[in-house]
Amino acid sequence: MKFSRRDFAKIVGTAALGSATVNVAGAEPPLPAIGGTAAGGQRTFPDGFLWGSATASYQVEGAVKEDGRGPTIWDTFSHTPGKTVNGATGDVADDHYHRFKGDIALMKALGVRSYRFSIAWSRVFPTGTGSPNPKGLDFYNKLVDELLKNGIQPFATLYHWDLPQALQDKNGGWESRDTSEAFGNYAGYVGERLSDRVKHFFTINEFGAFVELGYNLGIHAPGLKLPKGRFNQTRHHAVLGHGLAVQALRAKCKQDTKIGIAENMAICVPVIETPEHIKAAEEACRQLNAQYMTVIQEGKYTKEYLAAQGADAPKFMDADLKTISSPLDFVGINIYTPTYVRADGSKKGFQVVPHPATFPHMASQWLSIGPEALYWGPHNVNKLWNVKEIYITENGCSSSDIPAADGKVYDTDRVMFLRNYLSHLQRATSDGIPVKGYFLWSLMDNFEWADGYTNRFGLHYVDYETQKRTPKLSADFYKQVIARNMVV
Ligand code: NOJ
Repeated sequence: MKFSRRDFAKIVGTAALGSATVNVAGAEPPLPAIGGTAAGGQRTFPDGFLWGSATASYQVEGAVKEDGRGPTIWDTFSHTPGKTVNGATGDVADDHYHRFKGDIALMKALGVRSYRFSIAWSRVFPTGTGSPNPKGLDFYNKLVDELLKNGIQPFATLYHWDLPQALQDKNGGWESRDTSEAFGNYAGYVGERLSDRVKHFFTINEFGAFVELGYNLGIHAPGLKLPKGRFNQTRHHAVLGHGLAVQALRAKCKQDTKIGIAENMAICVPVIETPEHIKAAEEACRQLNAQYMTVIQEGKYTKEYLAAQGADAPKFMDADLKTISSPLDFVGINIYTPTYVRADGSKKGFQVVPHPATFPHMASQWLSIGPEALYWGPHNVNKLWNVKEIYITENGCSSSDIPAADGKVYDTDRVMFLRNYLSHLQRATSDGIPVKGYFLWSLMDNFEWADGYTNRFGLHYVDYETQKRTPKLSADFYKQVIARNMVV
């Protein structure tokens, strides 16, 4: 039988639509799509799955000198020539501080049932410690009330990188244990005042970014390249700060408050889904996340981590480990790119496989496209540490986002990215991995740290001249996902 390319496209097309299987003599029947049939059933998420969106204070708020907010390390860093693309700063950003009601209306129109935002420490304590600034907390009171009025659950992050500058000047920031203690006190203060309405708190967002990029590579605030020993001590003080915050929140919050983290751990994906590579990826997940997630979950640094650091290993008291591993109610994972791992028969049991030069990525160079990360991230966390409540606290992508003649951004690449990642998340929930919700990064374009305003991650396009927000095609897509509770 002669079989043209067009015939093949027809057969694949009908199969994807879920109609009667057309089989060609001698050919294998087509494989079902991940997540089951397009007819619906198996592409759905569990009832009550929590769809949300996320932002962070310095990236959206602006109003950096208003109502007593103290300066932060990101104000200093972004105002230092050469540190951000085009010298961008968060001085105005999305002006969310003044426009939060309109932004909540955007969320309502999307249909999200939860919103992950962060609280700027220096609005509440302008110098990090000492007397609180009541006007600072007022803003978050208003934000939380407006969210609840609109049926959206607030999920608050206590630290998303905007450290009060005074703590950097006085203590060297997270290099000092004093900062960990100050963070604990601030967390307790906020928890006591918001936990009547905020039922989920994240202590710290992405140790794996702000500590590594800020204190080792010097490309994020505070822009330091510490020697190894001091750097490892900084890592230790960051996880200690997390633990102290958990304890303070437990002591001060209403009983029904849940506490967790939002970490960009290495997402170890088996190169092939066979038992030996899956096992290797699980072991890699423990080892590669030793300095943050693993010590938080297990209450000790892995012997491999301590051995590799040698004389530069962090110095600590045993009691610190207990604090760091204070029990959590849930784990949040920020998931963007995969780390591929293979079994190699060595004592260590795994090898990381670097991305080949042709590996596809989104507008941000670092954002390699690996949808399976959304399956294996939660799989590993559940398998290794028996975590029963997992949130995807960030996932999303940058794209070129150029408005078309009608003013709309047709970001088909972002839709492709999201559809594929969500297919693997759906696969995770249908395998019984306890993922309870998903926060898309981000509600709207915003200040992308050292990349300034060049890499846009939003579902809404922001015209920074006018502050006008316009839903992109991906917002229409996400709205359908939420409304149908399924991958569309
Ligand atoms: C992780 C960070 O938490 C967030 O602030 C950042 O904008 C996104 N990733 C995208 O890079």
